[in-house]
Amino acid sequence: MTLAAHRGEILHCLDDPAAAGTDAVGHYPDGLLLLEDGHVVSAGDFADLASQVPAGIEILHHRDALIIPGLVDTHVHYPQCEVIASYGTRLLDWLETHTFPAESRFGNPAHAADTAEFFLDELLRNGTTTALVFGTVHAESVEAFFTAAQKRHLRMICGKVMMDRNAPAELLDTAESSYHDSEALIRRWHGRDRLGYAVTPRFAPTSTGEQLAMAGRLLMEYPGVHLHTHVAENPEECRWVAELFPEANDYVDVYHRHGLLGRRSVLAHGIHLSPAEWKRLAETGSALSHCPLSNLFIGSGLFDYRAAREHGVRVGLGTDVGGGDSFSILRVINEAYKVQQLQDNNLAPLQSFYLATLGGARALELDAHIGNFAPGKEADFVVLDYDATPLIARRIRACRDVMERLFVMEMLGDDRAIRETRVLGEVAHRRAG
Ligand code: GUN
Ligand code: ZN
Repeated sequence: MTLAAHRGEILHCLDDPAAAGTDAVGHYPDGLLLLEDGHVVSAGDFADLASQVPAGIEILHHRDALIIPGLVDTHVHYPQCEVIASYGTRLLDWLETHTFPAESRFGNPAHAADTAEFFLDELLRNGTTTALVFGTVHAESVEAFFTAAQKRHLRMICGKVMMDRNAPAELLDTAESSYHDSEALIRRWHGRDRLGYAVTPRFAPTSTGEQLAMAGRLLMEYPGVHLHTHVAENPEECRWVAELFPEANDYVDVYHRHGLLGRRSVLAHGIHLSPAEWKRLAETGSALSHCPLSNLFIGSGLFDYRAAREHGVRVGLGTDVGGGDSFSILRVINEAYKVQQLQDNNLAPLQSFYLATLGGARALELDAHIGNFAPGKEADFVVLDYDATPLIARRIRACRDVMERLFVMEMLGDDRAIRETRVLGEVAHRRAG
């Protein structure tokens, strides 16, 4: 049994602030986070909990910092590290020109392994401890990713892309082979340590109906796995889906009629949705991943967060690297705020903090394990540095309360603000300097 104690200002969400108000917040200006074997024992005021720390256990004091749960990225492509910052295209052209060529290299296990390590280093440098991750069409890509994530004891979900049309020949599988390859990966990796599998049809245009039906079959046969795909990101894409699936009522219906929607289904983007589509997502309990960095970078559009709230659709935040141009969920929060500003809406500091932590965990159905410091949860956490940059240090000292400080870190923070990232209580990243 290993005990550990971390002292400092602590902030976490106990619930959705939009629903539960101030009851949703746990804030301890001088707090103590007590851990046992990498799991939370308790979080509270130092003055109340200090007596529970046995003599001989060192209390690590994180000064001028905010201790928060590990950040959750609900949509990201690990094979797209080298696609970030590609100039001049919208979605369909971007895929063809930049993305597919990069992904075609992932049949090479050495390249996949090297990229997986780089990718996980980047996540941890940015305070992200859990992600829902796209591989490529190659089973080798997922094998490499899970191998790397397992070594680091991370809670991660990944899946092999299913894609049997409208992509270069070297990136195509078949309905049949995608079923068998996915099944083999599920059997090998799903539920192993902290890893989970997501059945991953890329998006409706690159799968035949036959392949989508195979994806639905996998979900029926392996009910614990996730479904991860894209939906309604770009108007041209939406028109293409209507042509390819004339029998469907709309884009969301394409997924619904193949049995792909449900509480473990996470669809990225959802920018161009009709009321009927919002309703269907809500009825099926499906979640959306909001990826403002990508939506602005690829010029896809503005996510209607108000509609998501009104329809009761769960939302998490995603970087969507390489459509998104940063690994930082703090940068995602910054752009999410601006996207709502442009739509006459306000994304409150605590609300976006919730989306990046407990809300993201809920969108991934992982909130039994991660998302806050409730007793028994896995102790993945981040130490945000109030002195990260001269500007942050100066601006923080002008704040009157924790919500102001939180907003400053959300708006001005990036990887430089991450002093330390811990996984199951152990240091997984410590910023130099
Ligand atoms: N739609 C289908 N594939 C992709 C992808 O790789 N990135 C993004 N942003 N959208 C997609
Ligand atoms: Zn994506």
